[in-house]
Formats: sequence, C-alpha cells, structure tokens
Amino acid sequence: MCGIVGYVGKRKAQPILINGLLRLEYRGYDSAGISVMEETGIKTIKNQGRVKGLLEVKEIEDLKGTMGIGHTRWATHGKPSAINSHPHMDNEKTTSVVHNGIIENYIELREFLTKNGYKFLSQTDTEVIPNLIHFYYEKTNKKDKMDFVKALKQAVEMLKGSFAIEVLNNDFKEEMFVVRKDSPMVIGKGVEENYISSDIPAILSFTKDFYLLNDYEFAVLSKDDVEFYDINLNKIEKQPKNIAWDVSSAEKDGYEDFMLKEIYEQPKSIRETIGARITLGVKSTLDELDFTKEYLESVDRVYIVACGTAMNAGMTTKKILEQFCHLQTEVDIASEFRYRKPLITPKTLCIFISQSGETADTIAALKLAKEHGAKTIAISNVIGSSITREADYSLYTHAGPEIAVASTKAYTSQIVLLAIIAIYFAEVLGVSSRELEELKKEILEVPKKIEEILDNTEKIKDFAKRISNEKDVFFIGRGIDYTVAMEGSLKLKEISYIHAESYAAGELKHGPIALIENGITVIGIMTDAELAPKTVSNLQEVVTRGAKTLVVTNQDIDKSMFDEVIEIPEISEYISPILSVVPLQLLAYYISKERGLDVDKPRNLAKSVTVE
Ligand code: AGP
Repeated sequence: MCGIVGYVGKRKAQPILINGLLRLEYRGYDSAGISVMEETGIKTIKNQGRVKGLLEVKEIEDLKGTMGIGHTRWATHGKPSAINSHPHMDNEKTTSVVHNGIIENYIELREFLTKNGYKFLSQTDTEVIPNLIHFYYEKTNKKDKMDFVKALKQAVEMLKGSFAIEVLNNDFKEEMFVVRKDSPMVIGKGVEENYISSDIPAILSFTKDFYLLNDYEFAVLSKDDVEFYDINLNKIEKQPKNIAWDVSSAEKDGYEDFMLKEIYEQPKSIRETIGARITLGVKSTLDELDFTKEYLESVDRVYIVACGTAMNAGMTTKKILEQFCHLQTEVDIASEFRYRKPLITPKTLCIFISQSGETADTIAALKLAKEHGAKTIAISNVIGSSITREADYSLYTHAGPEIAVASTKAYTSQIVLLAIIAIYFAEVLGVSSRELEELKKEILEVPKKIEEILDNTEKIKDFAKRISNEKDVFFIGRGIDYTVAMEGSLKLKEISYIHAESYAAGELKHGPIALIENGITVIGIMTDAELAPKTVSNLQEVVTRGAKTLVVTNQDIDKSMFDEVIEIPEISEYISPILSVVPLQLLAYYISKERGLDVDKPRNLAKSVTVE
C-alpha cells in the first residue's frame, strides 16, 4: 500500500516522479505529493486525490531540480487530505520524508518529540519520522553525509512497525537517503541517474537493473553512485539484478484497462509459467526444489497459506496434493494462520503464495513457520520480493507484471504452478499413474482452451448488462467449483461494489436460501462430473424461488432451466478453475464497466497490502 518513487540524475525530476507515481497509483490513490530539491532547498507540492491532480497545481512547472521523492497514499492514519499527504517535513522544514508502511508506536514517539518541543500538523504516523531525524541530526557535527545517515539510523531504530522511507535534506543537494524494513522498495540503476520505487513495473521503462535492499539496510543515492550500509553503518557491496520483464508488459498495449489486458494475457502467462517445467513422458523438472522421497514421506502435513485471490488459488490444490500425493493439506488465510497457533513441526511443509511477494500477513505467516522449523516454499510473481527472500525455496509464476488491483492472470498462473509442484511431489514419491500423465497433458492444453473462451465473450457481456444494477449476487459450486465461486465472488465485489457471496452449494439450504427471492442472481459453477447433478439440484431450488441463474459448465446437464449457460472446454476437475474462472473474471470486468467504475483502481483497495 502506498507507492513511493525517487529520482536523482541529470534530468528534471518532476516529470519522472509524476510518471512513476501514475504507474504506482494502483498501490493507493487517496492523495499524492512530491518534494524536489531546488537550488534554494526542498520544494513540496501535495494534494488530496489522484496523481493527475498534482499536474493542475500551477507551481508544479516551477520545479526544475534533478532530484526528488514522491508518494501516492493509501490512507491508514488520518483521513485523505492535503495535510495528511506525503511528503512530510520536520518543523524546521529541512528534511522531507515519504513513507510506506505503518509506525506502530507513533503516539509514543509523538509524546517524546512533543516533550522536546516539536509540533505536529497532520494526523499521520509518518510525521514523527522527519522530526526524529531532525532531532538526532541536530546532535551530530553535521560534517558530512555520514552524520545524516547516523541520524537516520538513530531515528529508524526508534520506529516499531514497517517502513520504506525516502529522505531529502537541505544540507545535501545531490544525495538522497533511503532505508526499509518489511515494506517493499527497489533501487533502479541507470546511467548517470538512479531511481527508487515501491516496485519494479513503475520504473521498468527507465532501467532493468535493480538493487534489492534488506531490512535495516541504508542506501545513499547520487547521480553517479549508490552506496549501501548495513545497520552498523558498515559499507556493503551489492550487485544489481537484471529483470527480464519487457517494458510493454507494464503498459496497456491498446487495451482499455490493465485488467482486461491481463485477462487476455492468460494463455501467454500460463505458457510462461509452464515453461520447461513439464514434458509428457518425462519426470517433471523443478530446478528450484531438491526434495527426496524420504523427505516427502516424512512430511506430517502441508499448509498452503496466502491472502485473497492467492488463497483462493491455494484452495484448488488441496485435492491434488491429498489424492495424488497422500499429503494431508490445509489451506489457510495468512492473517488467521499467523495468530491461531497452528500445529507446525519440523516435518511440516508450508507453501506461501503471493503475487506481489510483499503481503504483510503472508510474510509474517512465513516467518512464523520458519521459527517452528518448517520447510517453506514461496510462490510469487515478483523476482526478489520479500517472501522469496525469506523462504527456503522460491518458485516464480513468470506471469509478467500484474498492474490491475483485481488479480486475474496471477491466479491462473498460481494454480498451474501449484499443480506442477503437486505433480513433481507425486513423481518424487513414485506415484506413477495414467491420471498423472493425463493431468500433465491437460496442463499443456490449458492456454489453447483459455483462448477458446476468450474468443467467445458475447454471452458474458450480455449477462453483465442484464445484472449490472443488481444489489446481491450469489456464487455456488461444490468441491473445486466452490473455490472458483469464492474467486468469482471476490472479483465481482472488488470491482463492481455489488454485494456478492459464495457458498458451497450444499450449504444453501442451511441458511442462505432465506435470502433468495424473485429476480436475485445466482451463478453456479459445475465442472466436476460427480458433483454436477447435485449442484443442478441446488440451482433448481433457487430457480423455484424465482432466482435468475447463470451457469458456467462443461458438463452434460439439462440447460433449459437456466437463464444463461456459458460453456467452457472440457478439463480435468483437478485444474478446472483455470478455465471456469475466466468467464467470471470477464463478467466482473464488464459489470464494472457498465457501472462506469474505475476497473483498475477500485475504491479503498490497493494492489499490494503491505500493512497488517
Ligand atoms: C485480488 O483481486 C486482490 N486484490 C487481493 O485479494 C490479493 O489477491 C491479495 O491482497 C493478496 O495479494 P498477493 O498475492 O500480492 O499477496
């Protein structure tokens, strides 16, 4: 949450900062602001609302400096307003700070600073940071930049919580300072210029070489150099990582919205996820894992832990792991897992899924699993992201940058990768079955089958029009189809603001059926041959009560009683969500468009949830 950018180089910083903020807006869009180092010192412009609002401020054109910092905010402490926007300055207006994260002990720190004569203008937690830096910097000889870094270190040592911080100070016209803990930040290396960003896509058009900062590492950036220091302020060396993402992958490429583009990218992203990981007739190769039969036989249970859509992806894998590998598998929400004292032993295998790799709850759950001695696997889409640096093993989905807040291609790539991991486990365990080989074949055929769905979207668009003014929509399914109901319902509520619920179809008559009345929409998903007749009966029960029904299926069922049926290609029920979700993604998308909403940046949400 919150996006931060920084630039130091030979060009005017303002347009680069604004450009970076526009690309980072999916991280938060309550307010935005920039500080630029001018000859006369720091100049700050900030505003409530979207980044483009900054361009309407007359003074923005006066900013000529070649070094600056910027921020787009997802409000935590203090309502969205100009005064609560970043950058924040100290009382003497010498130091400007942008911050992503949460300072948990800010009240205590405000009291400490107030006692020392400082005053606060905003309601934010962040405003303590420039003042703390000022407090400690005043105690140094102010001889050189290391005095400032020392003050920065003393300030951050006082902070509890998470932070990625960029700092400008009037004494340093050519250097800016950064430090992070538990909040994402990358440093982009250019030629005679260097960049900072919360994530890679925002600055991908400027550079593909990135430095990654670990917790409590400091960096001093100037036009020609980036210096790194550890927590004891010893200088450390870092090598940049080259990121192979293509620049156009972070652009809309002619699509109206990133979400639509990402839905249509799924055949390609899945091909990338599969890569050389499976070949028919040959044991699956996962270079990232080195598990033995003995190890997998000793595993007492598998936990799959994630948030939101990533958790929904995890849900789909329980059946494969249990049925093919006989591994007892539990899937959990990271924010629950981390506090429920789960049974974790050194024989437990924990898989954490996160598109961004920066989700605070997922990282905390991963750290907990490690503390208890479990083996940990991270599945992420972002090279070098925090969960991949924490876990024992990391596997990337290679889906390319996902920009829309509503996750689509990451979900289908995660399911594919999880299925491949399950197949790998089964092969290591010596399970050799026709079904396993058949599953591999099915995975290889997925991209083509998605293309078929994407080539035929008229019925979905039409149904979206028909229900775009609804207040409530129910999604039902059984078995693996229930997990897709969860994802379909999440997608719809996220971007259309229609109240949506998902239920295991068999649960309807245990309560929710009381809500079914004339005209209400119920969406049923049926891809499991054994369970489809049962879901048909449940749908019959809602039709009887006047519900409008849409069915997504590849089963041979009597379709006459439903208002609309979207047929999808046949596929093994172990991985059917990869196909059955696509019409639901499109449905949510077209409903959101019908309602005239901002599909890519739904209200109150942010792409990467880096706070608890
Ligand atoms: C998905 O549409 C959501 N925006 C959200 O649920 C997301 O999947 C969740 O916050 C987890 O994000 P991550 O995969 O980056 O950890």
